[in-house]
Amino acid sequence: MKAEKVQDSGNPTGHGKPEDWPKYIGDQGWENYTSEEHGVWKTLFERQKEIVKGRACKEYLDGIAALEMDQTQIPNFEEASKILKAKTGWEVVAVKGLIPDLPFFQLLAERKFPAGNFIRKPDQMDYIEEPDVFHDFFGHVPLLANPIFADYMEAYGKGGLKAHEHGTITNLARLYWYTVEFGLIQQDDGMRIYGAGILSSPGETKFAVESNSPNRIGFDLKRVMQTNYRVDDYQQSYFVIDSFDQLFSETYADFSKLYEEIKQDKTEYAPEDIAGSDNVFTKGTQEYAKSKDK
Ligand code: PHE
Ligand code: FE
Repeated sequence: MKAEKVQDSGNPTGHGKPEDWPKYIGDQGWENYTSEEHGVWKTLFERQKEIVKGRACKEYLDGIAALEMDQTQIPNFEEASKILKAKTGWEVVAVKGLIPDLPFFQLLAERKFPAGNFIRKPDQMDYIEEPDVFHDFFGHVPLLANPIFADYMEAYGKGGLKAHEHGTITNLARLYWYTVEFGLIQQDDGMRIYGAGILSSPGETKFAVESNSPNRIGFDLKRVMQTNYRVDDYQQSYFVIDSFDQLFSETYADFSKLYEEIKQDKTEYAPEDIAGSDNVFTKGTQEYAKSKDK
């Protein structure tokens, strides 16, 4: 999967009402998966677990181990939730597809992670537009076993409801995009991945840490909230955190003032831009993106 449509203001399902979340979740229907569907999971898992070695961050790999996943079968959300709840209080609930913004935020605020229950078809192994169970489970769920990341995701959900009041869901969704979906983290042994959109994509997992095409820029909250992103291909810039502690401490304060500032100054960065104030880890050649434009 190169990218997915996320829960931002472009969400085709709209805002909805926070309290309507129960309408969007349901039974995973685990017994109904066919052996072909389990086979797709197995193929994806076996390939990707090798690719994430040495590229994913430590906390993610610890999460994969903690979840005791049977790689030959699509995970059963109820069973995984037992392990997760004991660790961080999170659970995984099944959804059929994208859900409106506000019920999505409310679910996160209650430590319920909505995961698609369907799996891609064998001809979509590298690319799907809507998040399926491989993206949602393999990509997102392992980090929910990490206490700090678990707190961050709950705070994000609560923050989403507040952003709605400020009319800044678009800005907040960029934070989700450049952290939860496409975040990088500088660890002792090198640049590593924690974003689920990268970790569920074999191609982007290598690209994000090894290619000289994309920019890698130190995380800055306001800058990220002012940066557009692309949903159709690999990212042109990644933002790098030093630790999950940093991510949490830079986002826990009330965003109200920051939202007002952003609304005033109206600066918008394109996905490939480098700003004068950026702490640049790698200035990309953008060779990959340019080759696609031709
Ligand atoms: N501190 C944010 C606010 O006041 C909430 C938030 C926390 C948002 C963590 C995203 C991530 O809106
Ligand atoms: Fe996702």
